[in-house]
Amino acid sequence: MPDALPAASLVEALHRLLGPRGVLTDPADVAPHLSDWRGLYRGAAQAVARPADAAEVAAVVRLCAEAGVPVVPQGGNTSMVGGATPDEAGRCVVLSLARLNRIRDLDPLDMTMTAEAGVVLKAAQDAAAAAGCLFPLSLGAEGTATIGGVLSTNAGGNTTVRYGNARELMLGLEVVLPDGGLWNGLRRLRKDNTGYALRHLFVGAEGTLGIVTAAVLRMFPRPRDTAVAFCAVASEDAALALFRRFRDRDESAVRAFEYMSGAGVGLAVRHIEGVTLPLAAPAAHYVLVDLASSRPDAGLRDMAEAVLAEAMEAGEVLDAALAESEAQAQKLWRIREEHPEAQKREGASVKNDVSVPVSRVPEMIRRCAAALTALIPGSRPVPFGHMGDGNIHMNLAQPEGMDPAAFLARSHDIMDCVNAIVRDLDGSFSAEHGIGRLKTDMMEDWRGGAELAAMRAIKAALDPRGLMNPGKVLP
Ligand code: FAD
Ligand code: MLT
Ligand code: ZN
Repeated sequence: MPDALPAASLVEALHRLLGPRGVLTDPADVAPHLSDWRGLYRGAAQAVARPADAAEVAAVVRLCAEAGVPVVPQGGNTSMVGGATPDEAGRCVVLSLARLNRIRDLDPLDMTMTAEAGVVLKAAQDAAAAAGCLFPLSLGAEGTATIGGVLSTNAGGNTTVRYGNARELMLGLEVVLPDGGLWNGLRRLRKDNTGYALRHLFVGAEGTLGIVTAAVLRMFPRPRDTAVAFCAVASEDAALALFRRFRDRDESAVRAFEYMSGAGVGLAVRHIEGVTLPLAAPAAHYVLVDLASSRPDAGLRDMAEAVLAEAMEAGEVLDAALAESEAQAQKLWRIREEHPEAQKREGASVKNDVSVPVSRVPEMIRRCAAALTALIPGSRPVPFGHMGDGNIHMNLAQPEGMDPAAFLARSHDIMDCVNAIVRDLDGSFSAEHGIGRLKTDMMEDWRGGAELAAMRAIKAALDPRGLMNPGKVLP
């Protein structure tokens, strides 16, 4: 199809459509939109479009389609896989959803919230809390990541073990399709079997099939009783045994079960002001367990004490600190939440966001750590993450004193090394961060054949000209 609008006049047309607040072209204003949180990529773009509502998003997409110009959707730009960063060609328009930041509706009886794509995750949590409810999705980047971003990556985070991934928290979507058509699927129904569940196509599609402009989200009753414990455990197996003890006692109360290694906690204490070890002595393995119930009389603190006492008796738990207040609970959580930032400050690191069946997590951590230190002597494995979901960030910090660039040049060797073990354990090479730009080369090997062919057919049907976030997800 010939392009009706020459690319050169696209920026002018965007200016006419969106006004001066709606388009960024000054290099200083555009720059933050051209690189990723990890600093792996630096791209280029004609402009950053900042529409203010869904109709304007549709108009921007239509203009770009007419000009044959690629569109890169961007929320909070916290992607761990370069998903929101444009390529270096400089042809694309970055479409920021930041100004679509309204909560359109919140209904404590339906337990739903209709939020626009640019609503920051923390703002959605706060809005739910103000209405006496809970929006449970929680991750380290929640002060910046957006509803559109978490749905487009099907983000997981700390509470997946109890409430599921972002996908499970979504009932309806509003989406701008690649031709600029606006689909209003903002239904807030618990049951709706009316053909293909289109909304689920866009969750986890990383902006390659369309632009999410709003979503109906599920809320839950507000927790009225909580308990948070930070524990030193004897081994990876002891950590898993402790998970089982809590789950067997009351599965519905386990809101988060996070594993940390001595290496990761050491980095958080070293680099992050205010983070201290709440136990008498350092250990090689730690667990953070967070319990919550909507019943005020759930007795979770007593339950935690009883389970920890049993686990100590069994030699699984070496020491533990139970939060006495909300402030203390937040302090314990900070040790875990600051892991990504602490690793960043320590120097170069390679992330392996992998999952295996929960029962295989200890074996995975041990085998990967041994293989990685054999591959790069002096490198430091920093495994941590969502043990209750079988999702460990099998990250590797560079050897002290090594040139960071030389270490990062080995990134794909490092990822291959971990992935070979993960495959052997029936796992996945990307548990929650997605594919983005970083992992497209792994798709053929892991998802090739019928699965990748079906994905390509869906992409070709919805976006035949390949203008939606090109170079991401599909190889
Ligand atoms: P962006 O980074 O802007 O975009 C992510 C992808 O979605 C891109 O492909 C982009 O093109 C696309 N996109 C964005 N908005 C839209 C839209 N409205 N419509 C269509 N496509 C869109 N992730 C986890 O899953 N679990 C974690 O525990 C976790 N912890 C993190 C901790 C830190 C410190 C950081 C920096 C990141 C973490 N992440 C985690 C990764 C990241 O926060 C998530 O992937 C998050 O969902 C991205 O949201 P965002 O708004 O920043 O999206
Ligand atoms: C987290 O859970 O903190 C992030 O997803 C992990 C990471 O930074 O590797
Ligand atoms: Zn994570």
